[in-house]
Amino acid sequence: MVEIGVSLLNMKNENAIQTLYNLETAGIEYFHIDVMDGKFVTNNTVDQMLEYCEYLSSITNLPLDVHLMVEDVKTYIDSFLVFEPNIITFHLEAAQNKEEVLEWIKYIKENNVRVGISIKPTTKLEEIYEYLPLIHEVLIMTVEPGKGGQALIRETVSKIEILSNYVKEKKLEVDIEADGGIKVENASLLKKAGANIIVAGTAILDSENFKETVEKLKK
Ligand code: DX5
Ligand code: ZN
Repeated sequence: MVEIGVSLLNMKNENAIQTLYNLETAGIEYFHIDVMDGKFVTNNTVDQMLEYCEYLSSITNLPLDVHLMVEDVKTYIDSFLVFEPNIITFHLEAAQNKEEVLEWIKYIKENNVRVGISIKPTTKLEEIYEYLPLIHEVLIMTVEPGKGGQALIRETVSKIEILSNYVKEKKLEVDIEADGGIKVENASLLKKAGANIIVAGTAILDSENFKETVEKLKK
């Protein structure tokens, strides 16, 4: 069964608390926290995401799935550790070298948080293979990172398929998460390809009935 993370990027600020309650009762498994620093991507969502995490820490036990789209990874790991997230995912493209990737993996693990590495649509899968034995999850971007409400880039679906086959072949314990442009209409593509966690933002937030939409995404 696929797990659903809801991206809060496009959540309306008014009655945010009510929306968060409604999302939790809709049956999602994760709150997906899209942290953008205005450098790695042009948007800056840091303050907004810190505020949402403050709310969430007082109203829910659902796990936080923190997606760092930032250059200064270490600083933002520290900023979000306080919320005891289930997983912190950084972008491979933010690292200057292999040593930095290994340092971030080690630091996140030392703080008892699961580790994810994310790659942009144009980054080759081969670039993460060497880290797979060390991490818990790969976040395959199915849109260019930076904003919600974009259309899924179809070519990324085959990346998920190739990665899923590679993980099975090497008997690795790695979750595969797909993120960006996922709707009820295309979710089955990602599931068939091998994603076991899918993130949806606008597909859920803009829908009439959160519970119905989440159930359709899971089917
Ligand atoms: C994009 C973010 C995604 C995205 C999800 O940079 O990482 O989480 O906003 O939102 P939708 O589902 O609206 O594309
Ligand atoms: Zn995301």
